[in-house]
Amino acid sequence: MLLPRPRQSKALPIGRVVARDNLTELRTWPDESVDLIYIDPPFNTGARRRLRSIRLNVGESERRGFGGRTYKYSVSSDMSYADDKTLDAYLEFLSVRLEQARRILKPTGSIYVHIDARVVHHVRFALDRIFGPEHFLNEIIWAYDFGGRGRDRWAPKHDNILWYAKGDSWTFLRDEIERLPYLAPQLVGPEKAARGKLPTDTWWMTIVPTNGKERTGYPTQKPERLLERIVRASSRRGDVVVDFFAGSGTTGVVAEKLGRRWILIDENPEAVAVMRARLRRVRARATSP
Ligand SMILES: C[S@@+](CC[C@H](N)C(=O)[O-])C[C@H]1O[C@@H](n2cnc3c(N)ncnc32)[C@H](O)[C@@H]1O
Repeated sequence: MLLPRPRQSKALPIGRVVARDNLTELRTWPDESVDLIYIDPPFNTGARRRLRSIRLNVGESERRGFGGRTYKYSVSSDMSYADDKTLDAYLEFLSVRLEQARRILKPTGSIYVHIDARVVHHVRFALDRIFGPEHFLNEIIWAYDFGGRGRDRWAPKHDNILWYAKGDSWTFLRDEIERLPYLAPQLVGPEKAARGKLPTDTWWMTIVPTNGKERTGYPTQKPERLLERIVRASSRRGDVVVDFFAGSGTTGVVAEKLGRRWILIDENPEAVAVMRARLRRVRARATSP
């Protein structure tokens, strides 16, 4: 379906959380205006993604727990977003947004698309079609090893992050990337062992811990460390970093801390409230003596 082309004269909403459908918003942005895009769209799980956080020993609700003991609890937060399209509708939904992503990227810009094993093959086809297979840079495997084990198959404990460049050159700041300890430092000599090694395309990192400082209560929140690696390697200070499926705003938080300019978009009012509060805290911390 051909939609009328909106005017693209609007200035970029730098440093803002935009509460709107991302396609409607992106279509108003100028061509070739941003340096880095990270998106973590819904994974098409066929359900609503929901996260309830509870506080124990307060409130009127009652639960039966370990050993048959009952305890009181109250729900301290309950947030969700829809993730229930058919595969065709999902791919169409994502493709039109990826086309906008390519249009708004500068010629040296790049995009990271965070997805999982259920849809990664479809999304890679879509990205090949839109960006060109020659602009595929990496499929990063984020392995987290948390939670239960399946009874009839290997437990899926990784996500896939597809990285594409818009053109034939892109930002990759090797010296900015955190170094990791060698598994067998005695085999590489003291100098190399002290410097550590660069990560490969397989990243072992924990998810946001349930009671960790970062935790916002928003479902599928990604850890800051993951975004830090991406933003440090693929953008420079002052660059424009965009996340148009922003959720709890992890990309904006990291970009702010690393001195990048950022724009976040999400259509879910719960996400917008979480992000705005989170970014206010980060900015307040940065300006407090
Ligand atoms: C997987 S979550 C992102 C989580 C995020 N990376 C974080 O660290 O918290 C996907 C987000 O996309 C948002 N979303 C889905 N469809 C959208 C649309 N058409 N426009 C804007 N946001 C959308 C949902 O509201 C949800 O917050």
